[in-house]
Amino acid sequence: MTRGIGIIGTGMIAHIYAENLRRIPDATLVAVADQDAARAQAFAETWGTRAVSLDALLQDPAIEAVLNLTVPQAHAAVSRQIVQAGKHVYAEKPLAVDLTSAQVLLEEAAQRQVRVGSAPDTFLGAGLQTCRKVLDDGWIGTPLAGTAFMLRHGPDDWHPHAEFFYEPGGGPLFDVGPYYLTALVFLLGPIRRVLGAARVSAPTRIIGAGPRAGERIAVHTPTHVAAHLEFASGALVTLVTSFDVWASDTPWMEIYGTEGTLAVPDPNTFGGPVRVRRARQERWATLPLVHGWEDNCRGLGLADLLAAATQGRPHRADGALAYHVLEAMVGILRSSETGQWHTLESQVDRPAPLGVGPTWGDLT
Ligand SMILES: NC(=O)c1ccc[n+]([C@@H]2O[C@H](COP(=O)([O-])OP(=O)(O)OC[C@H]3O[C@@H](n4cnc5c(N)ncnc54)[C@H](O)[C@@H]3O)[C@@H](O)[C@H]2O)c1
Repeated sequence: MTRGIGIIGTGMIAHIYAENLRRIPDATLVAVADQDAARAQAFAETWGTRAVSLDALLQDPAIEAVLNLTVPQAHAAVSRQIVQAGKHVYAEKPLAVDLTSAQVLLEEAAQRQVRVGSAPDTFLGAGLQTCRKVLDDGWIGTPLAGTAFMLRHGPDDWHPHAEFFYEPGGGPLFDVGPYYLTALVFLLGPIRRVLGAARVSAPTRIIGAGPRAGERIAVHTPTHVAAHLEFASGALVTLVTSFDVWASDTPWMEIYGTEGTLAVPDPNTFGGPVRVRRARQERWATLPLVHGWEDNCRGLGLADLLAAATQGRPHRADGALAYHVLEAMVGILRSSETGQWHTLESQVDRPAPLGVGPTWGDLT
C-alpha cells in the first residue's frame, strides 16, 4: 500500500523530514506547499516532488497525511485545514501557541476520525527509550525528583528567519521545552501542576545568519524561564530553559531515584549517552542502547502514526500528549505572571515504549 504524504512549510527543518520519508517503505512525498511559492519550488526540485498551492495539496486524494512544518504561530490554523480536508496531520512543535486553538483542532480531528500527531518524536529514539527501560526495570528505584536544563544563546545566531522564535509560541520554553517536557512525561508520567518564573532579558535581538544578517528583531516572549514541575507520581522536577546563556556545564537532564541517579541524554536528539550511577557506586556506568535509532530520526512519529492507523492502535506522539505538554508550558508562563501554581486539567498516560525489533516500516 502506498502512503501519500504532503508537506506544508518547506523551510529549514523540512529537509530532514523529506530525507527520512524515504526510510518509511511505503511512503511517497506526493507534493509540497509553502506560502513562499519560490521556496516550495526549490524544495520540490531538491527532493524530486511537485510544488503546488496549499488548496491543491489539501484537495489531492493521493495524500493521506500531511506534515505541517510551518512556524509555531501558524501550526494550529494549518493543522485545522489539514484535518478539515480529511487527512491525518503530523505537525512540528508546539501543537499550537494557545490552548483554545489546540482544543478546537483536537475536537475537529476526533469528529472527522483523522489523527493528530505532533513533534517531538525524539522520545522514540534509542536514548530516551533506553532511559525508560532503566526506570521500568527499577535500576534507580522510585523516581523522586529531577533537574533539566536547556541553556543556550538562542537561534538568532544561526537561523535566517529567527523572528518566530521571539514571538509568543517561541522563546526557549515553547521552542525547546517540548523536547524536555515530552521526555519527562514519557519517563515519569503526567504532570500535576507547574510553577514558573520568566523574564524578557533584552527588548531586541540581531539576526546573525543569512541575507538579513544584522537586522534587529523585537522580542515578544520570555527568553529565560525557570519552572518547577510536580508530577502525578509525586516526583518534583526543576526545569530551566534559556536563550540568554553564553556558556553552561549543566547536564541536560537527571532523574534522582531512591536507589540511584539516571543521567538522560539531550532530549532534542535520538541517541545517547545513557548513564546510571546506583547507590554507593563510585562510578557512572554508560549503558548500551536498546535499539538502533540514534541518528536524526525526525519523522519516526509519523511512521508510527501511519502504522497505528493501519493497525487500529493509538500512535505514540499524539495530540493528547502534545496538548498536555502545551498546557504545562502555558501554565508555566501564566504562573510566572500570577505567582500561583497552575494545576493541569489535561491528563495523559505514558506512551507505550517501542519494541526492540521493528523497522521504520513495521512499528507496532
Ligand atoms: N530549524 C530547526 O532546526 C528546527 C528543529 C526542530 C524543529 N523545528 C520546528 O520546525 C518548524 C519550522 O521551523 P523552520 O526552522 O523550518 O522554519 P522556517 O522559517 O525555515 O520554515 C517555515 C516555513 O513555513 C512557511 N510558512 C509559514 N507559515 C505558513 C503558512 N501559514 N502556510 C504555508 N507556509 C507557511 C514559511 O514560508 C517557511 O518556508 C517550527 O515549528 C520549528 O520550531 C525547527
